[in-house]
Amino acid sequence: MPSLNTSVSLIRANYLFQTKPYKNLVAGRIPQNFIDDLISRSDIVGVINARVPLKRKGKEFSACCPFHNEKTPSFTVSENKQFYYCFGCHAKGNVIGFLMDYEHLSYIDAIESLAADAHLEVPHENDSFAHQDKLDKQPLYDILKLASELFQQQLKTSERAVNYLKQRGLSGEIAKQFKIGYAPDGWDFLISQLGKTKDDLLHLSKTGLIVNKENNKTYDRFRDRIIFPITDQRGRIIGFGGRVLDKGEPKYLNSPENAVFHKGYELYGLYETRVALRKIDRIIVVEGYMDVVALAQNGINYAVASLGTATTTEQIQKTFRTTHEIVYCYDGDNAGKKAAWRALENTLSVIRDGMVAKFLFLPDKEDPDTMVRKEGKQAFEQRIIDAMPLSTFLFENLKKECDLSSNEGKAQLATKANALIQKMHNSIFKDLLIEELSSMVGLSQQLLESKISSTIENKKIARQQAKPVRGQQVSNHKTRIAIALLLQNPFLATEHQVPENFREAFTKGLPLLYKLQKIIETNPTMTSAALLERLRDDEHETALNKLAVLQTPETENSDNIIDVYTDIIKRLHYEDRDEYLKHKINNNEPLTPEEQSEYLKPPTK
Ligand code: UTP
Ligand code: MN
Repeated sequence: MPSLNTSVSLIRANYLFQTKPYKNLVAGRIPQNFIDDLISRSDIVGVINARVPLKRKGKEFSACCPFHNEKTPSFTVSENKQFYYCFGCHAKGNVIGFLMDYEHLSYIDAIESLAADAHLEVPHENDSFAHQDKLDKQPLYDILKLASELFQQQLKTSERAVNYLKQRGLSGEIAKQFKIGYAPDGWDFLISQLGKTKDDLLHLSKTGLIVNKENNKTYDRFRDRIIFPITDQRGRIIGFGGRVLDKGEPKYLNSPENAVFHKGYELYGLYETRVALRKIDRIIVVEGYMDVVALAQNGINYAVASLGTATTTEQIQKTFRTTHEIVYCYDGDNAGKKAAWRALENTLSVIRDGMVAKFLFLPDKEDPDTMVRKEGKQAFEQRIIDAMPLSTFLFENLKKECDLSSNEGKAQLATKANALIQKMHNSIFKDLLIEELSSMVGLSQQLLESKISSTIENKKIARQQAKPVRGQQVSNHKTRIAIALLLQNPFLATEHQVPENFREAFTKGLPLLYKLQKIIETNPTMTSAALLERLRDDEHETALNKLAVLQTPETENSDNIIDVYTDIIKRLHYEDRDEYLKHKINNNEPLTPEEQSEYLKPPTK
């Protein structure tokens, strides 16, 4: 089975070496050719397997369905068709649909995510909104980068700042790796260096690097502080944290939220971790900038910090896209415990089978920085390994609040635990938590399960039920088979073209066949998954998704598929003309001489 990484690098290599320019840019959209290519080059088996481990089963792959609760696998993924289908809950779709449903992404985000895995930038050239957005943001990235370079230069010239970092155990090498800098004292260092024009001043102010006063005056936000640049996933600097060197308030000053910096979405150190490690077995989530840097200094280069706020679900999702195991490490004090509990709650709504979350509590008054400096890498990594599993933290904490010797206490525990378990996606892990809860409170699993209905799955089912079945049903059996054949084997469009008069044909389904033909002609090598992607939100979407997985003797017989298809199209053509001519005759409409001879002709074979 191809690993996600190999398939991704394949995608990348193919993409880089292809010369075909992406024409056909549609205003306000991602170019269709890009989406086709992205889908045909990505491998649905790799993408799904990285999230839901698959087993090979004959021609296909299978697993327990991630979209409904089941004990025996009915979820299948076809490598040929680049399509997944669940025989239990009928969830189905291509790689984009899978990412949308599995990771709760919007359509655009799913494409972005797939493209990001392949290290591709989604082209938006003709998209005036995205284009404008880029135009607006680029100067901010540029000025943030320049500011960071100036701060790094300044660090070299300030003995006091260098000494501060040394005294905190940091080497020049680590300072360089994290681009640590120093903002000199004074009110207009950046203004004088970077605020040459009105535009520059505007950009400085938009990033929050300078602060506007009421009387039209401005001053630098960061003064006499050690500077920690915050980078996004692509390594672009989006903001800063600045620490006082001596005593002073506030201890840390951060960039305000701005067009490129959104606190709840970013993690300090994630980019650096990705750069440092190719394979990331686990990530430890800590509270502070200095914790991340001190851990890296001590050889633990897989820590990230949640920027002074509670760790959000977005941050957790982002981290789980990088690794399968998160170890939360918060201070041992009350605030730290509270932060850990919030992280637990947010993790429950995100976690899936195959993902692991643990909690590491340090002794009182210690944080990862002081701890690792005190005891070194090995001892600290032992703590990471011994960290408390999420389930233990969950139940230990709940038990503390409820008296399990009484029925009242047990009911209280069950209620509290239910409220938390309800947030979870269906998974084996969820089942295990219910099992543990059941043995703790002495209620049967079945009873507990009946009380815990997953809010997530319920929402999904509600959404599916609410979705109207749109478009005409494709009813004629032969038409259905023709459409299924073409959908499942788009190359057939080049082997035998659908006749031009299917476009406005009399028979239901033929115009759709014509439409498919025309789409495939724009990109004859497209896969069925890419073809389906073009038809997302089409009036026939529901019917098409069914036909894409339809199995009939015709679709399963791969030996003479071209002949089978050609024959069906010819027959459909004949029958359609026949119907049309009969209709004309029945309505006493005169036939043209060509139509008369056509009416008498038998089908060609
Ligand atoms: P801590 O107060 O735990 O600081 O804040 P620390 O990381 O141990 O820092 P050192 O060791 O004293 O240098 C943890 C995080 O909370 C945010 C920062 O992101 C900090 O790294 N914070 C803290 C602020 O944003 N502002 C503050 O005034 C304090
Ligand atoms: Mn600290």
